[in-house]
Amino acid sequence: MTNKEPRIVNYQIPSEAAIFELQSCIEAMEKNAQLRKEKNFDERNAVIDFLEFQVIGRIEELLRVTAQPSKLGLLKYRAEKVKSALEEIDSNLFETLRANIRTGTYTGAEFKNLVSEYVGVNTGDREHPGEPGYDNLDLFINGLFSVQAMPEQTKDLEPEMVYYQKTPARIVFELAEEAHFSKEDVFVDIGAGLGQAAILVNLLTGIAAKGIEFEPAFCAYARDCASGLDLSKVAFIHADAREADYSEGTVFFMFTPFRGEMLREVLGMLWKESLKRKIKVITYGPCTAEVALQSWLHCATPQDDNMYKLAVFSSL
Ligand SMILES: C[S@@+](CC[C@H](N)C(=O)[O-])C[C@H]1O[C@@H](n2cnc3c(N)ncnc32)[C@H](O)[C@@H]1O
Repeated sequence: MTNKEPRIVNYQIPSEAAIFELQSCIEAMEKNAQLRKEKNFDERNAVIDFLEFQVIGRIEELLRVTAQPSKLGLLKYRAEKVKSALEEIDSNLFETLRANIRTGTYTGAEFKNLVSEYVGVNTGDREHPGEPGYDNLDLFINGLFSVQAMPEQTKDLEPEMVYYQKTPARIVFELAEEAHFSKEDVFVDIGAGLGQAAILVNLLTGIAAKGIEFEPAFCAYARDCASGLDLSKVAFIHADAREADYSEGTVFFMFTPFRGEMLREVLGMLWKESLKRKIKVITYGPCTAEVALQSWLHCATPQDDNMYKLAVFSSL
């Protein structure tokens, strides 16, 4: 078919039953006062998702083929109105929580309690163990930390470098437990991306946290995020991990920032640090297999075929 040939659209009148079903569903959400209670984050976000994909998406499908758009247009308007009202509750909630965090009173157990008032923190096994898998805790932490849109990448990655992907928030919660931090520890996220892991570790434990990131736009974003929460013990350094200074770190985290020779080179730098003081190396993702081969490290967590499990190594 050429572009000039007319496209045949199968105009239909959506069934009364389909319209009735959409209308009742929107009405139920308009009337559901529970969704407007700040604490009902999980339920509200399930409904926001449902509205977007099952209601608005369905109406748009019907609008593409209907000869009578007026009823559907009105339903779409109502569905969008409920959705944006629910989203506004979330954004006001996050603004309030950010102000609370800035007071400095929500560190450690207080921060964890604060989060668990709104969303479940399930660090258990996943349905799909072969992939990171994100859940409502990520949705919550993203909302809490992300005041800006994700920046564009400005530098090309070298072949062994791994593109940005967030560590699931539940894994960082697990890390904060499994690392058994002492208050003198300094956490370093190698390949820190937008800074979430370092910021979360600081909030969950109160210890100093640093991130090293190759992409300057990510590093600037992470700094803004930490300063927006007044976190004075969190810092982000724009550097290539092969040229970074590790002299202050005691617990190093890697969600596979790079592979191959680059990974071995950075592990060599960490090994030199381990000759000066005991360190821990915590990994997530495919880099765990290479780290497990290092004779100067002992793995404290049970070895597993699932690479998307946290592995904690201590220097000998
Ligand atoms: C899989 S992401 C991990 C992000 C972050 N650790 C988190 O959990 O949210 C890998 C990150 O490593 C960064 N990266 C890759 N090579 C790097 C290098 N040589 N030095 C510093 N950062 C690097 C990438 O830009 C990317 O942001």
